[in-house]
Amino acid sequence: GVTRHYKFDIKLKNVTRLCQTKSIVAVNGKFPGPRIIAREGDRILVKVVNHVQNNISLHWHGIRQLQSGWADGPSYITQCPIQTNQSYVYNFTITGQRGTLFWHAHISWLRATVYGPLIILPKHNASYPFPKPHKEVPIIFGEWWKADPEAVIRQALQTGAGPNVSEAYTINGLPGPLYNCSKKDTFRLKVKPGKTYLLRLINAAVNDELFFSIANHSLTVVEADALYVKPFKTDILLITPGQTTNVLLRTKPSYPNATFLMLARPYFTGMGTFDNSTVAGILEYKNPSNPSASTSPKNPPLLKPTLPQINATSFVANFSAKFRSLANSKFPANVPKTVRKRFFFTVGLGTNPCPKNQTCQGPNNSSKFAASINNISFILPTTALLQSHFFGKSNGVFTTDFPTNPLQPFNYTGTPSNNTNINVSNGTKAVVLKFNTSVEVVLQGTGILGAESHPLHLHGFNFFVVGQGFGNFNPNKDPASFNLVDPVERNTIGVPSGGWVAIRFLADNPGVWLMHCHFDVHLSWGLRMAWVVQDGKLPNQKLPPPPSDLPKC
Ligand code: C2O
Repeated sequence: GVTRHYKFDIKLKNVTRLCQTKSIVAVNGKFPGPRIIAREGDRILVKVVNHVQNNISLHWHGIRQLQSGWADGPSYITQCPIQTNQSYVYNFTITGQRGTLFWHAHISWLRATVYGPLIILPKHNASYPFPKPHKEVPIIFGEWWKADPEAVIRQALQTGAGPNVSEAYTINGLPGPLYNCSKKDTFRLKVKPGKTYLLRLINAAVNDELFFSIANHSLTVVEADALYVKPFKTDILLITPGQTTNVLLRTKPSYPNATFLMLARPYFTGMGTFDNSTVAGILEYKNPSNPSASTSPKNPPLLKPTLPQINATSFVANFSAKFRSLANSKFPANVPKTVRKRFFFTVGLGTNPCPKNQTCQGPNNSSKFAASINNISFILPTTALLQSHFFGKSNGVFTTDFPTNPLQPFNYTGTPSNNTNINVSNGTKAVVLKFNTSVEVVLQGTGILGAESHPLHLHGFNFFVVGQGFGNFNPNKDPASFNLVDPVERNTIGVPSGGWVAIRFLADNPGVWLMHCHFDVHLSWGLRMAWVVQDGKLPNQKLPPPPSDLPKC
């Protein structure tokens, strides 16, 4: 591989959307941010210089960071944030991965505007396990607030209420013609007939899972989270924040007499309000250079795809079950067949009591929203976990008693009742794993404040999704139907609303790795925890010392 140098200047930029201009935090004056395009095996050096007042750090979402945990990026987990006028060089090598990922800010809600595609092409002379596309197009979904997203989450945390919802979704930063004064801000995918396009779909939205579809065109899914899958056809996709999906789009054999909309809007089952708007882009067959070959009239009809109901949970479960690892001899699925450590984690919302002499606007108007794993709402420390772990100074920073099971089992998916203690407890707790431990985690959604789906993301690893189901996980029955042959391997999975998923991974990467809900609102409320993976015995099983420019808190 080669070494690729990038410089990311974090600066303010004025952007006009929905008829309003505001100043956003952006990279190199671009929104969405610049694309990183590399090949498997390349080394990436990104010098990030912070010119804004906010502290910031960047995360290379889905990059394994083998032996390079110092470059992972979540603030207060693997590094202290980069302060104003400071810089940090992220230095990592892309090992054994190819496909679509993305990068984003990993502190507070700055990723609302600080994100961009991270595309890993196969090695030279290596080909895709699917027909070579005529063209490749990144399609990155985002979410837009008229207000400053930092103010939105600050206010929510102060009052304890849910945050104000966004005003629009975007495709490559553009809301599209269904929003006020946004017709000119429309993503247009210009295509030729009879060709295959590879669409690299990335959900960088802050708080919403999205359905996506293109009128009159079906899509063939070939890759998820930078891992090849067994190809399957679908008219509609669901993509959670943190997930990436590569699809092949085969265009019509000849110039059609129509223009086609592509639409995305949320899947939502939770309580409270949400942004029920729709982003549209346009699939446009370019006018042929030979005008006599054109069949397009001046004003062709505009066709719209049909998307599922807003709360179409069974569609989502069926769709998610279609993903299977390619699992061939070239790309085997190395599913851990035996498990050394088992964990059962409840994931869901809860409350924190309202501090005295404050009025709170959370659930029942007297508490603050919180979110937890096994009832622990994770509080960020004031220094970074990885440093304190590496230098043996974890005392007073974090504890290693994260519960392996819920402290008090209950009917997780039962109707919320007054008897359930919905208050969470706060802590900064981690699970310590010996190097190369095979791990199984059952992620059980709870209905304490109403059933809601949670896109769980694991840093530092891909995991296999060996099972999923509705209701309460049954440890005596459900493991019998686990798929250990070709389960999908990915870094983010939606824990079904009112259900569970089981994942397995091998802890072969020393460091401190965050696992969290990729809805930033739930992340801010504490739906996160950390795995500490110890060094192995061999030199290539150890985390090297931190780079000298690692930011200090
Ligand atoms: Cu894409 Cu911890 O995040």
